[in-house]
Amino acid sequence: MSEHSELLKLMEERYSVRSYSGRPVEDGKLELILRAGLCAPTAVNRRPQRVFVLRSRKALEKASEVTRFTFGAPVILLVCSDTDAGRTTDDGQYLGTVDASIATTQMMLEAWELGIGSCWVRGFDRKKVSEAFDLPDNLLPEAMLPMGYPSEDSEPSQMHFRGIPMSRMVTYL
Ligand SMILES: Cc1cc2nc3c(=O)[nH]c(=O)nc-3n(C[C@H](O)[C@H](O)[C@H](O)COP(=O)(O)O)c2cc1C
Repeated sequence: MSEHSELLKLMEERYSVRSYSGRPVEDGKLELILRAGLCAPTAVNRRPQRVFVLRSRKALEKASEVTRFTFGAPVILLVCSDTDAGRTTDDGQYLGTVDASIATTQMMLEAWELGIGSCWVRGFDRKKVSEAFDLPDNLLPEAMLPMGYPSEDSEPSQMHFRGIPMSRMVTYL
């Protein structure tokens, strides 16, 4: 097997983009990104991921009222889980958050593949987000994904380089 699969290369190169150019995200690319979220595996195939595409001026303004992490992105995906659809395990863990997170990860990676940067954002108050976007009670805000073409001076933050060694992550038994 080759040392670097294309996917691993992409995942190792991706970084959180926090500075965007003015170039709009094309509808066709957005569609591909959303498809990546649609095909994500979910617990018992319940598919509780729900995505709001914030791209009108009004919606983007609302987003910047509830989080400081919008970075002037032209599009923000607000990813929610539907608590009516999400599975809860026998020992009480609600898996909708996990499912929505897998969908978010897949969208982030597909975006990067298309040359579009993004940044996973959880720096918001769920209640404020629900109020701002008038979400029904069963929709739980899980993540925001500001996205767009990186600006010319976009670069990874210092945090990007702070990894852990493989030995800390992995235990062979
Ligand atoms: C669950 C989660 C929540 C995050 N929340 C924020 C956030 O609110 N604001 C932000 O700027 N970055 C946020 N990030 C991005 C992380 O800071 C970033 O992924 C990490 O520092 C590694 O950097 P990299 O993505 O450039 O490799 C979040 C990432 C994850 C996975």
